[in-house]
Amino acid sequence: MSNKNLENKGFSTHCIHAGQKANESRSHITPIYASSTYLMDDAQYGVDLFTGKRDAYVYGRFGNPNTNEVEDKIAALETYGLKNTAGEPLQAKAILHASGMAAISTCLLASLTSGNKILTHFSLYGGTQELLDKVLPALNIEATHCDFKQLDEVEKQLASDKTIQLVYIETPANPSLACVDIEAICALAKKYGIIVMCDNTFATPYLQQPFAFGVDYIIHSTTKFLNGHGTAIGGVLLGTDLDMMNTKMTKHHRLLGGNGNAFDAFLLNTGIKTLALRMDKHCSNAEQVAHFLEQHKAVEKVNYLGLASHEDYALAKKQMKHAGAMLSFEVKGGTDNYRYENAKLFINHLKLSTHAVSLGTVDTLISHPASTTHAGVTPEIKEQSGISDGLIRMSVGLENVEDIIDDLENALNHCNI
Ligand SMILES: Cc1ncc(COP(=O)(O)O)c(C=O)c1O
Repeated sequence: MSNKNLENKGFSTHCIHAGQKANESRSHITPIYASSTYLMDDAQYGVDLFTGKRDAYVYGRFGNPNTNEVEDKIAALETYGLKNTAGEPLQAKAILHASGMAAISTCLLASLTSGNKILTHFSLYGGTQELLDKVLPALNIEATHCDFKQLDEVEKQLASDKTIQLVYIETPANPSLACVDIEAICALAKKYGIIVMCDNTFATPYLQQPFAFGVDYIIHSTTKFLNGHGTAIGGVLLGTDLDMMNTKMTKHHRLLGGNGNAFDAFLLNTGIKTLALRMDKHCSNAEQVAHFLEQHKAVEKVNYLGLASHEDYALAKKQMKHAGAMLSFEVKGGTDNYRYENAKLFINHLKLSTHAVSLGTVDTLISHPASTTHAGVTPEIKEQSGISDGLIRMSVGLENVEDIIDDLENALNHCNI
């Protein structure tokens, strides 16, 4: 996994060193391998490669030294400090993808077949929701939603519908910050022999390790906190069933063609080196921003897992190291009680924060989910996911927190209350 012995070393040390291997040039940082294919010594070499007798780089779509380094690094972080049932260090394999959506697609398509169903909850990332609504039904794969807080209801669904083959969770979820009790859902799914897939994008492995609670597959949009600087789209799929990862998942990854590339992997690898440092500051800034918002007269409600008012405050404490850097809040309605008007006034008066979709970058990002990321989601699902016209989503950045708060205060003071 690494040239260095990282046994008993800390999480940050893994962020920096895990995955790095020696290279022939002896360069300190792994160079960017801008090569689409790899040389074969002789005819037998090719035979050995394609029959699996030799493990070496073959073709860029299958992987290269940069994608491999970052895959091993993320696998080390998602299994950091965890043990398998035999008490040995847990092993996972990671496969880098061109985007979070590509990683989700590989995992779903490799795990499911026509006639299978997915059981999931409300408040998923809009793209994931659209994949379930608009792409998979054409393959005769349907998704059923239910309230994952009602464990009896989840069990009823799993027990009564044998076509459910996969439980899909995103926690904390986008943009309500609602959490799913990962341990409880995994216990139910295991009882019925069903696999669980978890989107861990918002938390990152620094704040939450879903494998610790029995999840089978983890995906991340690495575009977000893992990269941290907004320089590359990417995704990763991880699993602890190494046979499945090395066979079916690898095959689907290669044949669907959603592979990551060397340059983006290089950027991602560099970003992850400061993950722990960044997350600590993101989290402490977010906490202060949430307290500020909570007391502002133009704000109706703040969804932040670190506030005791959030319904998942206790659950987040149980399964996450910290409440994280994501929050959302509702602006109040103006004189005509039309919240969208105030949401627009707020956004249009921001002077420091970046108005853009995406999240997890060093700068504060602010977006209006109802008109952007979740514009393609049905009104019913929007309502059930708590996405109102007045909801603003914030990814709290690393600027001086007083500057972020000043910016918010100025913009909120322009709302008509
Ligand atoms: C929680 C979550 N999961 C998955 C995705 C999809 O990732 P990507 O845009 O890298 O395909 C996103 C994108 O915003 C997201 O927020």
